[in-house]
Amino acid sequence: MIITGKYPQLRLRRNRQSKWSRRLISENNLSVDDLILPIFIVEGKNKKIPVKSMPGIFRYTLDKLNSVVKTAIDLGIPMIALFPYTQKKLKDSLGTESLNPNNLVCRACKQVKKKFKNKIGIMCDVALDPYTTHGHDGIYANGNILNDETIKILVEQSLLQASAGCDVLAPSDMMDGRIGVIRKALDKNGFKNVQLLSYAVKYASNFYGPFRDAVGTKNLLKGDKKSYQMDFRNSNEAIREVALDIKEGADMVIVKPGLPYLDIIEKVKNKFKIPVVAYQVSGEYSMITSSIQRKIINKDAILETLLSFKRSGANAIITYFAIQVAKEL
Ligand code: PBG
Repeated sequence: MIITGKYPQLRLRRNRQSKWSRRLISENNLSVDDLILPIFIVEGKNKKIPVKSMPGIFRYTLDKLNSVVKTAIDLGIPMIALFPYTQKKLKDSLGTESLNPNNLVCRACKQVKKKFKNKIGIMCDVALDPYTTHGHDGIYANGNILNDETIKILVEQSLLQASAGCDVLAPSDMMDGRIGVIRKALDKNGFKNVQLLSYAVKYASNFYGPFRDAVGTKNLLKGDKKSYQMDFRNSNEAIREVALDIKEGADMVIVKPGLPYLDIIEKVKNKFKIPVVAYQVSGEYSMITSSIQRKIINKDAILETLLSFKRSGANAIITYFAIQVAKEL
């Protein structure tokens, strides 16, 4: 620590007294380049369905999707993340719909790629939870989630989404070993340029509730996800997860949720110097939004949270506030 001088000669407030000076000495900044916009999509025509637990967030039918993507492009947002709401009748215990080349998310990818080419990146989750009747991310048998059997399906899902035009595959399932197997399959099948953004550090969190409402898995989930998502008491384990995923070929990693896990973002960044994406999850969005609506906090709190991700070392942030914030920036 280098401190020269002391009060009253030294006054740290001098640098803070005017706005231009604060701008000059700012150590971190937020820009639209940092934002990833999640979009919920749903089957049907000409619909924009509000998500009850996420005020201001909607599920869009595909005929409405392009205008949302256009808004994101016009604002300079670099990437969208597509999340499908799957109809109940298409769900089964194996998540078979995930392998339908014409499923909602594949059609969405094709549509967006066709219309907007490479003007914006498309990210898709790799996991089975949108498609299973039990709401788990993998194959469920007698209370267990089967790791290796699940990976086999995830590989197929990855190849399908890649051929539909997805640029960035984001395995969010937390199965062991899936990054390596998916990378190999992509390379073998002509997708060596498809990026892998691993949800390497995904905690079994209580902040995912509104998302599960948005994608229609909330009331289906049998039990919890603690046998595959991480225990929030742990941080060394996060380092091991990231180390393995990097070894297996992850191009970037996600730490999720966001605000309660800034310590993890910082550790991962310092240790691995890899691009780190923070996920400000649905529960965080809903808490902040409802506090703003009730005038308990002011809306600049949103920028404060996003900036804190930057300060902790995140390169980008998946946030449901992306459009709102991009407009302000
Ligand atoms: C599914 C998935 C989840 C989220 C993103 N992908 C939920 C879960 O694991 O149950 C949560 C995102 C959010 O809460 O905003 N694998």
